[in-house]
Amino acid sequence: MKVVHTIEELRDQLRGQTRVAFVPTMGNLHAGHLALMRTARQHGDPVVASIFVNRLQFGPNEDFDKYPRTLADDIAKLEAARDVYVLFAPDERELYPEPQTFRVQPPGDLGDILEGHYRPGFFQGVSTVVLKLFSCVQPRVAVFGKKDYQQLMVVRAMCRQFQLPVDILAHETVRADDGLALSSRNVYLSDGDRKQAPALYAQLQRIQKSIHDGVSDTSLLEQQAIQALTESGWQVDYIAVRRQRDLLVPTQQEVSQGEPLVVLAAAKLGVTRLIDNLEI
Ligand code: PAF
Repeated sequence: MKVVHTIEELRDQLRGQTRVAFVPTMGNLHAGHLALMRTARQHGDPVVASIFVNRLQFGPNEDFDKYPRTLADDIAKLEAARDVYVLFAPDERELYPEPQTFRVQPPGDLGDILEGHYRPGFFQGVSTVVLKLFSCVQPRVAVFGKKDYQQLMVVRAMCRQFQLPVDILAHETVRADDGLALSSRNVYLSDGDRKQAPALYAQLQRIQKSIHDGVSDTSLLEQQAIQALTESGWQVDYIAVRRQRDLLVPTQQEVSQGEPLVVLAAAKLGVTRLIDNLEI
């Protein structure tokens, strides 16, 4: 695997390539990321991964400074997995040589709800860096995890509206045996919190089962899940059953007629904010 830190080196490595498959990450790689790279390998050649902790998508009180930066370990994992041909790991001056005053602003009905409501500016930061990374890598396909469901939808909408020649592939969420979605932020969980953490997914599964069993009052299901989590010490930002196609609230009639839904959640356990979702 070639590790490059500048756009010039990246372009040298990729000259003439027309089937690049790309996996953007912020590093601290886990089995979920490695699965994205395996999938990328099935859909293009060569596979390029990036590691860049993007300041633009962190709010002022968020964890940008303490976000785990583990480049040497990440390189070792990628070398061992042998799926990636080029790792692009720019520093901030390389990707943002001047203040990034041009930004991609996602539409409010997609970018300002749910995660966007609790993390103002987050999807603007994500869209802006993803557009920049796409412009550096010029991939044919890019793979994103479904764990960041709304991010996946924002990136897809951006590619559609800007007619970017990139196919966005969605990868299923990779979970630990007890159901916890793998995430770089799981390293913040204390031992006790780690034991509690699968409860979030368990609530999503309860909601999924209730809807499959014919319950159509989704706000009641959301309230019950919020109450159960709050009683066991979580601080819940949202648990929301939405339509898969646009993340709007479904009517009871849509729920009972089998509209494809997704239940999305964000909640804090101790100092760790976890997000997860489940399609219904
Ligand atoms: O999902 C992530 O790790 C980040 O949001 C991404 C897509 C790499 C952009 O910084």
